[in-house]
Amino acid sequence: MTVRVGVIGVGVMGAEHARLLTREVAGSEVSAVFDIDADRAAEVAASCDARVLDDPMVLIKDGDVDCVIIASSDATHEHFVLAAVAAGKPVLCEKPLAPETEACGRIMAAEAAAGRQLVGVGFMRRFDPGYLDLRAQARSEDLGALLMLHCVHRNESAVGVPSSVLITGSAVHELDIARWLLADEPESVTVHTPRATSRGGGTQDPMLLVLRTVAGALVDIEVFVNAGYGYEVRCELVAEGGTVLLDTPAETVRRAGNTVGRAVGHDWRGRFGDAYRRELQQWVDALRTGGPSPLASAWDGYVATATAQAAVRSLETGSTQPVVLVDKPGFYR
Ligand SMILES: NC(=O)c1ccc[n+]([C@@H]2O[C@H](COP(=O)([O-])OP(=O)(O)OC[C@H]3O[C@@H](n4cnc5c(N)ncnc54)[C@H](O)[C@@H]3O)[C@@H](O)[C@H]2O)c1
Repeated sequence: MTVRVGVIGVGVMGAEHARLLTREVAGSEVSAVFDIDADRAAEVAASCDARVLDDPMVLIKDGDVDCVIIASSDATHEHFVLAAVAAGKPVLCEKPLAPETEACGRIMAAEAAAGRQLVGVGFMRRFDPGYLDLRAQARSEDLGALLMLHCVHRNESAVGVPSSVLITGSAVHELDIARWLLADEPESVTVHTPRATSRGGGTQDPMLLVLRTVAGALVDIEVFVNAGYGYEVRCELVAEGGTVLLDTPAETVRRAGNTVGRAVGHDWRGRFGDAYRRELQQWVDALRTGGPSPLASAWDGYVATATAQAAVRSLETGSTQPVVLVDKPGFYR
């Protein structure tokens, strides 16, 4: 059985999903595409031999669409996820599940009412070999209690991106991976702001988030989206028995002219290409075999967004904010 995927939103990320499904993921094909930019939709559809549909709701209900990927802009996610759940179709929604916690709550309620897990969130770092190794080491007895996590998230250039989106759109990856690595929940968050780079177009960039967890660990997250030199994500775990660093992977390390260097890519597609491929392959495999979803759940999407929103409040007020979560619905236990 070939899993036929409909993709809504085929900008950078949606086109990459379509490419991977067509060329690198076994057992899948892209059967339909929708984007409000009709030319873009036609271009991506042609590259994967898919149909272009002119209505996203028609795409979701289409008989040749088994499941849906949503990679349109953040504010549109809720509407499309709810439509996919109403149609009973599995959906991989790019992060964030929705920028507001209330929207995530509505998605969880709809999924629970549907009675089966249909919604997954594109927190692809959970499929990255480096993060998987870090997580395995975090569970090893010799490291002992986990004390701190230092995270760095840098983009080459994102001029004019609103400061809140640095949190809801970029730091949200670290907010998810921190609880996944530490097996711990967020308790409070404080955002610190140094002087801003002159290259950000007037936005507060960079910033430093400090998250305290329920078990008492501290997570610091540098977000710097106009770092200039490339896309880089790093993470270091500090535990009682030692530290583990997830550094920038490199095929080669060059030594010449009195410098030692490794290449840094322009964006996330290089660094996390393997993670996106594994995420899609494991999702497609689960859909083919009827196995449980390997993706981050709507609950995970909700916690990440609730933490991000608390961080936005901290940015606005300058004070530490509690992360207040609803009780975990029984459906997600
Ligand atoms: N997992 C990751 O690492 C990762 C990386 C980048 C982006 N993302 C997420 O993926 C999504 C897309 O990001 P991007 O970088 O590809 O952005 P993009 O701007 O390149 O693409 C967004 C596309 O959505 C389309 N669109 C906007 N509104 C729409 C609507 N109502 N219906 C259908 N199409 C619509 C736009 O025309 C555009 O083609 C965002 O939610 C973003 O946060 C995730």
